[in-house]
Amino acid sequence: MSGETKYLWMDGELKLWNEGTIHVMSHALHYGSAFFEGIKCYHTDRGPAVFRLKDHMKRLHESTSIYKMPMPFTVDELQQAVISLIKANELQSCYIRPIAFYGYDTLGVHPKKCPTQVAIATFDWGAYLGEGALENGVRITISPWRKFHSSSLPTVAKAAGQYLNSILAAQDAQSKGFDEGLLLNQDGNIAEGAGQNLFIVKNDEIYTNAEDSCILMGITRETIIKLLSDLGFAVHIGKLSIGQLFNADEAFFTGTASEVTPIREVDERKIGNGMRGSVTKSIQKTYFEVIKGENAKYDSWLTYINK
Ligand SMILES: Cc1ncc(COP(=O)(O)O)c(C=O)c1O
Repeated sequence: MSGETKYLWMDGELKLWNEGTIHVMSHALHYGSAFFEGIKCYHTDRGPAVFRLKDHMKRLHESTSIYKMPMPFTVDELQQAVISLIKANELQSCYIRPIAFYGYDTLGVHPKKCPTQVAIATFDWGAYLGEGALENGVRITISPWRKFHSSSLPTVAKAAGQYLNSILAAQDAQSKGFDEGLLLNQDGNIAEGAGQNLFIVKNDEIYTNAEDSCILMGITRETIIKLLSDLGFAVHIGKLSIGQLFNADEAFFTGTASEVTPIREVDERKIGNGMRGSVTKSIQKTYFEVIKGENAKYDSWLTYINK
C-alpha cells in the first residue's frame, strides 16, 4: 500500500512492515470480529504529537469489551506502543491504525479460544475526502442504505464487521459521482456519514445528534462540541432531520481522517451559498491550531513523542 512505513507493531513487538501477516483461517477474516481505531499524529513545533491518543485507546478497549474480547494490552501499554512505533519509524506526522482481532483457532461463530491479536500500523494517508475538500467542501448524497439500528449492532463500537454498512454507502455515493454518502437511521433521521459525524449551522447556532441517532460517538465530534462551546456558540444535541440539513446555513463533517470538512451540496441542493461558511471556517481554524499544538489551553489532548 502507499505510505507504508518500515515497522509496524504486532502482539507486543516491532516487526518489519511485510512481516505483519496472519493465517487466512483467522476468525476476524471470516466474521469481521475485529475492533479498530483511526488516530492522527501531527507535526508541531515540539515535534510529532498524537491527538487524543488515550481517548482513542480507551474507545478501543470499550469496543472490545462490548463484544467480550479479552484484551492482552492495557490502554497505557497501547499508548506506549504507538509512541515507540512513531519513534522507530522516525515520523513527523502520520495516520495510526490500531486493530485488535480474533486470530486462528476455531471457525465457530463464537470465537471461544481464538487468541486476541493486536497490531498497530503507522502510515501516510492524504486528505481522506480528496484534495481541496477542506477549503471547497464536499458533495454528498443520502444513501439508499440505512444505518443499522443500535438494537441490531452497537453503533458505539468501532467494529470491523459493522463497516460493511459504510462500505455500501461509500460505494453507492462514489459510483454516482459524490464524495461521500450520508446514512439515515431506521427512523428516517440523519445518522452520520460513512466515516464521519455531521454538524449543522443555522442562525449561528450549532446542531448535532447523539448516540440515540445510532452514530459512532466520534472523538472529533466531542472535540468540536467542546471547542464550539468554548468559543461561545450554543450547541444543541438532538435528532437531525433531512429538512434541517437542506435548510442549513452551513453543514460540516467531523472525523479523525476527515477532520472538519465543509459540506457544500446534498443531492444537488446547495447548502447555504454552496461554499465553506464562516462558522465552519472559524471552527476549522481553531481545530487546526489545537491539533498542531498552537493553543496551550488544549495541550493536554496532545501526546508529544519526543518528551
Ligand atoms: C462511522 C463513523 N462515524 C464517525 C466517525 C468519526 O469518529 P472520530 O471522530 O472518532 O474519528 C468515524 C471515524 O472513524 C466513523 O467511521
